[in-house]
Parts: sequence; structure tokens; C-alpha cells
Amino acid sequence: MELRNTPVDEVEFLGRQIYVKRDDLLDEAFSGNKARKFYHFLQQDLSQVDRLVGHGSAQANSLYSLSVLAMLKDCQLDYYVDHLPQYLIDNPQGNYRAALENGANIIVAESSAVSVIEHIEQFVLPALEARGQSAVFIPEGGRCEYAETGLKILADEIIDWAASKSYADVRVVLPSGTGTTALFLQKNVPFEVQTCACVGGESYLKQQFLELCEDESQHPTILTTAKKYHFGKLYLPFYHIWAGLKQATNIEFELLYDPLAWLCLQREFSENSDELESADKRPILYIHQGGLQGNETMLPRYLRKLAFVK
Ligand SMILES: Cc1ncc(COP(=O)(O)O)c(C=O)c1O
Repeated sequence: MELRNTPVDEVEFLGRQIYVKRDDLLDEAFSGNKARKFYHFLQQDLSQVDRLVGHGSAQANSLYSLSVLAMLKDCQLDYYVDHLPQYLIDNPQGNYRAALENGANIIVAESSAVSVIEHIEQFVLPALEARGQSAVFIPEGGRCEYAETGLKILADEIIDWAASKSYADVRVVLPSGTGTTALFLQKNVPFEVQTCACVGGESYLKQQFLELCEDESQHPTILTTAKKYHFGKLYLPFYHIWAGLKQATNIEFELLYDPLAWLCLQREFSENSDELESADKRPILYIHQGGLQGNETMLPRYLRKLAFVK
């Protein structure tokens, strides 16, 4: 699997030329930042490994990507969640359904006294070891130092692209959840990486950066949002900018993270017209991080909300 060298499209949106790094095209089943973050594991010989152990939400893009990784590596995926909504069990859909189809075991962590990660560390991994099973534990969303291997490759592609366009400086823009992708990109490109906090707000994101890298000079810049948005909740401006993007660029983005980053850009553009001396004139390279599988559940939710509003 040749997971690298994605094209860069030039699109026009919000009255600006913007470049989009099409990491959504990396591979149909294994795309976006998951392919970059899990690259280390993908390249590794896991033939002696029986199980991949992961955790997170039952709807997460990373659940689906881990299920693909496990399939490719001929391992069993055991994925722990803190709860599993009954409606999802009754109507499997999106990432959850696709992961089940790939053979993932999706398990509700049984101990309520400890977090899912503690449950895995204290009970699951020792129990597997006692049974002579070899397991590789991958933290939620690929948030670990191993993610840097694949993100360094993405960083090098960005550097080569900027050189091919003779750009001495660009701004790299992408939305963050755990901040892993933005942080490791910032560590490996000589350009400013700008991101926004889609999960848990700015202070949570700063904390995530610090846990991966103590040196704050290597942290990405956090773009401020007009208001606080709660992850996973529906916001009509998210849907409208997503639909506008699709129409204007012919590129489908995902609905949980991308809309917030584009709203940040929209806010900046409306405050700073191109003619203004203070406007940031550096070319923008937006990193498309895949995750389109999740739209299968997000889009009907938005369409229901829109029908209700009308
Ligand atoms: C589509 C998409 N965009 C952005 C992110 C956020 O990535 P990170 O957790 O590395 O900040 C994710 C989650 O991994 C994602 O699935």
C-alpha cells in the first residue's frame, strides 16, 4: 500500500484561492490523518501479533481505520468503548457498522471505577499476556509518538510542494481533535501550522500539545473561534459551510471537524479583506484529513435538523 504523495488541488472558496492537500485520496479504506498516524503500524511486521487493542467512541473514524489496519495485518481488533448506545446496537451504521463488517470486537469496558484506558492497562493487557496472546495497544485516535513517522512523511510532501511552487512561506491549516496531527506537522515543517480546537476547547488542546511536546515554541497556532462549539453537536453554520464547500470545490469534506476550520478562515477573510495591509497574504494549504465514512451518519442528522427548522 503506497500511502503517500497525495495531490494538491487549487480551489476557490470565500473569494480566495486555497490549496487543498487531498489526503482523503490516500486510499479508499485507509485515508486521511489515520493513514498518516497509523503509518508506523502499517509498515511494521505484525505477523507475530494476535490482537490490536484500541479505544474511543463507537462512532469514531479511528475505529474504522483500526479495523482496516487489523484486517490488513491479519490481527483481531479489540476496541473498547465506555458505552454503546442501544440505537447503534439496533441500527449499526457509519464507522461502527463498517468496523463490525471488518470483524472488529467492540467491547464495553466493564469497570466503571476506572477510565477505559486504565481498564485496558490494568486488566485487558495483563489478561492477554497471561493467556500468551501478543497485543499491540494503540491509544485513542493514534495519539502517541509513533504517529510522527507518517506525519513526517506528510510534512516532507508539504515542503516539496511549497518548493515546487517557489513559495518561501505558506500557512498550513487543519482542524484538531487530539491535536496529534497538527503538532507533529508543526514539528516537521518550517511553516506556521494553524489549527482550531474542535474537541474540548482551546485549553484542552494546549494541554494535549504539551503532553506530546513540552517545547511550546513547536506548538501550532490555535485559531480562535467565534463561539464555543461542542463536539458532535449539530450547528447549522457547519452544514451550510460544508455544503457551500462541496458546491464550490467539488470536494467532499467531513462534517465534524472541517466546518469549524473553514468557519475560522471565513471569519478571518471577512475581517481582513485582501487589500488590507494587515491581511495575511501567505498561500493557504488546507489539509483534508479524510474521515468521510462518518458523513454517512452525520448527513442524515443534519438533513433531519434542516427539515425540522423549515
Ligand atoms: C476527519 C478528521 N479530522 C481531524 C481529526 C483530528 O485529528 P487529531 O486528533 O490528530 O487532532 C480527526 C480525528 O482524528 C478526523 O477524523
